[in-house]
Amino acid sequence: MRTIAIFNLKGGVGKTMTTAAMADCLAADHGKRVLLIDADAQGNLSQYFGAEAEDGSDLLALLQGENEHYYPDFVTPARKGIDIIPAGMSLMYADVDAIKDGRCNINAIEDLRGAIAEDAARGESGAYDYILIDCPPAFSAASSAALTAADAVIIPIRLDAFSTSGMAELITQVSAMRRINERLCVAGVLATQYQRTPEEDLAFNLLRKNTVLPICTSKIRQSSRVSAATFACESLLSFSPHCGAAKDYRKFVQEFLDREGPING
Ligand SMILES: Nc1ncnc2c1ncn2[C@@H]1O[C@H](COP(=O)(O)OP(=O)(O)OP(=O)(O)O)[C@@H](O)[C@H]1O
Ligand SMILES: [Mg+2]
Repeated sequence: MRTIAIFNLKGGVGKTMTTAAMADCLAADHGKRVLLIDADAQGNLSQYFGAEAEDGSDLLALLQGENEHYYPDFVTPARKGIDIIPAGMSLMYADVDAIKDGRCNINAIEDLRGAIAEDAARGESGAYDYILIDCPPAFSAASSAALTAADAVIIPIRLDAFSTSGMAELITQVSAMRRINERLCVAGVLATQYQRTPEEDLAFNLLRKNTVLPICTSKIRQSSRVSAATFACESLLSFSPHCGAAKDYRKFVQEFLDREGPING
């Protein structure tokens, strides 16, 4: 099992859409079992998968718990092969509690990951192949818990005029992430909302040449079908399988799987 956090301190770069599209592609095309964790109080991923953050059975409850949890209590079935631990605005209490009296279990997702891995080792049915965590554009209690548990991080970016200077900031972000979890690796920096302009192509080529971070070969094209799929609360891959973004996410997931190598062995 692999745990991947989708992280960038910059807002609106496609973290939530990348998390969702990866889950849909891993489940529908590759037959993987995926647990999604919404670590963002905006709750966009939860809304998209039709899951409500509820008292006692969401990420806040998991982070507020002191002891071992029976993790299925926190999990809501979402789509075929995909479950989710939802979040909503109440997740901000994890930060409030952490600031006020340190009452937040930053190891909660790591413990959950351990419990899932034990179940998988016992051969229990329904074990997850991937945990994908949609992070907020901030270091918060929830994103710290996500990074503590993650094997790797995927960093979506936009290819705008600031992306080359933004790389230095990204490298600083990665150092900060490694203060939380020193074994964290960067699985890939993924360009999203790509518009095929000469400027974006130039920015992409400069990034690939000049940065120490691994830049994914795949780029995700901008497509109006993405917004339409979120309104419909449907998987982009089934809602609009032939749009550029759906095709690109499929390519990206294949690239990700090729780089990761086989899991569970
Ligand atoms: N490939 C795409 N084509 C068109 N629109 C996109 C694409 N990817 C994302 N979007 C849109 O861009 C907006 C931001 O995407 P998203 O919510 O995934 O970003 P985010 O990084 O999670 O944002 P935040 O930092 O606020 O959590 C959304 O309205 C989404 O529908
Ligand atoms: Mg988001």
